[in-house]
Amino acid sequence: KPLVFSGVQPTGNLHLGNYLGAIRKFVALQENNDCIYCVVDLHAITAQLVHDDLRGQIRSIAAAFIASGIDPKKHIVFNQSAVPQHAELAWIFNCVARIGWMNRMTQFKDKAGKDRENASLGLLAYPSLMAADILVYRATHVPVGDDQKQHLELARDIAQKFNIDFQDKIRATGTGVDMVVGEEPIHGYFPLVEPLIDGPAPRVMSLRDGTKKMSKSDPSDLSRINLMDDADEILKKIRKAKTDPEGLPSELEGLEGRPEAANLVGIYAALADRTKADVLAEFGGQQFSVFKPALADLAVQVLAPISLEMRRLLDDTTHIDAILRDGGERARARAEKVMGEVFDIVGFLR
Ligand code: TYM
Repeated sequence: KPLVFSGVQPTGNLHLGNYLGAIRKFVALQENNDCIYCVVDLHAITAQLVHDDLRGQIRSIAAAFIASGIDPKKHIVFNQSAVPQHAELAWIFNCVARIGWMNRMTQFKDKAGKDRENASLGLLAYPSLMAADILVYRATHVPVGDDQKQHLELARDIAQKFNIDFQDKIRATGTGVDMVVGEEPIHGYFPLVEPLIDGPAPRVMSLRDGTKKMSKSDPSDLSRINLMDDADEILKKIRKAKTDPEGLPSELEGLEGRPEAANLVGIYAALADRTKADVLAEFGGQQFSVFKPALADLAVQVLAPISLEMRRLLDDTTHIDAILRDGGERARARAEKVMGEVFDIVGFLR
């Protein structure tokens, strides 16, 4: 049975990329799956150790989940540090994964910058904790934006190596399952996770530069639409969004080599739950002076109720805190069971 897991870091304001690349997909997946959605606070201290208001940030991501439509009763919403098994499994994965694998991660290279020797060890081991987040529930499907693809490939490599290295122990403890990897039938403990990256906006780009990803860390606030922006700010940012002088094409091929136009069409399609082709069938031949106001209206229509509900939820933190506590307890019960089996496989006494 599929089990969905994903996480969002409580660092800085959520933006349209986080919403379209991840949270909106979390909401849709609830319908037919068992889902676990996590505020990854342990990850938040890898790049920057000390935060002004980490608790507030954690609550605000949880509020964004709930305000967007995630049901914390049917599914699980919690913060990572509430379940110590994440860190415990990450340690074992640190011993499974190779340093070379970590050194190849493009996100590590970007975040560590030139002075790599001076990056935290946690930043290097980040993908190992991420693999543990997913696999401590033996989750199978992970909705994320395109930028997390390489990390999920690494999670598969870690699961694969664990399954192979401990093959005999997995059989001896009777904890494994028969699975098919590619064409190859194996008996493994951890599933090889499937990334869910599809949709019209797997990589939302900056509104100021269609070749750069929309990001929390871009110094220009005009480059992104924040989930908490009000209608005026959204209108202004879309009006000022960079475009080329041509109008919109009628066919998808017409977006090639036009990153800014492609980005805005992708955003429209994702917000409207339509395909890009469908959006172009409607707006093909129109100028941006027509398309931009339509896009801004749609963005406000989708985002305004979310930010309103977020503000309401954050007004009094008791409700959010209760949701996180309850989710943490339910997540911990599941993780404890898996960690018990992992202890048996590895051969720790318990
Ligand atoms: P984070 O917190 O940077 O981002 C949260 C989610 O938003 C997606 N995203 C985007 N999608 C489309 N366009 C963009 N411009 C854009 N920017 C961000 C991210 O892909 C992500 O899905 N390592 C993860 C958090 C994490 C995690 C996990 C995810 C920790 N453990 C386990 C899945 C499973 C991260 O830093 O996401």
